[in-house]
Amino acid sequence: MRDRFRDAEHVFRVALIFALLVVAFLLLRAWFIPDDFGVYGFYRAGALDDNRVRPPQYAGHSTCADCHADVVDTRRGSRHERVACEACHGPLGRHAAGEDEATPARPDGRASCIRCHDARAGKPAGFPQVVVADHADEGPCTACHQPHSPAIR
Ligand code: HEC
Ligand code: HEC
Ligand code: HEC
Ligand code: HEC
Repeated sequence: MRDRFRDAEHVFRVALIFALLVVAFLLLRAWFIPDDFGVYGFYRAGALDDNRVRPPQYAGHSTCADCHADVVDTRRGSRHERVACEACHGPLGRHAAGEDEATPARPDGRASCIRCHDARAGKPAGFPQVVVADHADEGPCTACHQPHSPAIR
């Protein structure tokens, strides 16, 4: 038996290093993975609680409508009717909940429009889009379009 392995010492050394690496990996893995990982799935169960205590940033469409009925009326029948308020106004959860006394800033009447309407080859053909340089000079888009009812009549 000994004879057969006489010239194999280098193999055992490599195997030993390999085994040590595996043990180190298993130890580090056990050390770094939180206890509650995998309770519900491939994530840390406590992440749910962490997220639950964060205050919501967005109030949602219907909440805005409760107080700003005039804007809802303006939007009715326009093609912006179903574009969510906070898609343009940004997250206003604290304003809607009355936690923020400051009057919310109005969206930029140019930059905010271009974000959605700048012509791009990948957009569906039915989506209203304009080549901004041809369509409008430097001024705000809202000089001609009312943001809550953008069609020009
Ligand atoms: C509880 C009632 C209430 C809710 C809900 C509410 N608002 Fe307001 N909002 C007000 C009041 C009152 C003012 C006027 C405050 C002021 O002028 O300081 C105002 C002001 C604003 C302004 C500034 C108006 C201006 O003249 O410049 C914007 C924009 C606005 N709200 C958007 C929203 C959006 C978007 C939502 C939904 C995320 C929302 N609000 C939800 C009551 C509300
Ligand atoms: C397509 C983008 C867009 C959407 C969607 C939108 N707004 Fe606006 N809103 C604007 C812009 C731009 C202004 C600033 C207009 C200006 O400066 O004259 C504005 C102004 C306002 C103002 C203050 C002046 C005014 O016209 O009464 C209020 C209040 C307001 N928005 C509320 C809302 C609410 C509530 C909703 C959803 C029901 C909503 N907006 C949806 C873009 C939008
Ligand atoms: C979050 C994306 C978004 C933003 C921001 C936005 N729009 Fe729109 N807009 C839309 C969508 C979506 C439609 C088409 C809805 C449909 O297909 O009925 C539309 C339609 C339009 C139309 C066509 C109206 C018609 O009746 O043919 C005009 C004009 C327009 N938007 C101008 C603006 C202007 C001006 C602004 C900036 C104040 C703006 N939009 C901001 C999403 C947006
Ligand atoms: C000088 C006035 C004026 C300005 C400024 C202006 N527009 Fe227009 N826009 C128009 C007119 C006029 C139409 C055509 C109305 C129609 O076809 O119903 C139009 C149509 C549109 C349409 C509908 C295109 C379609 O295929 O249905 C979009 C989207 C639009 N504009 C976005 C914008 C954006 C974004 C800006 C700012 C970068 C802007 N507009 C600035 C006058 C203007």
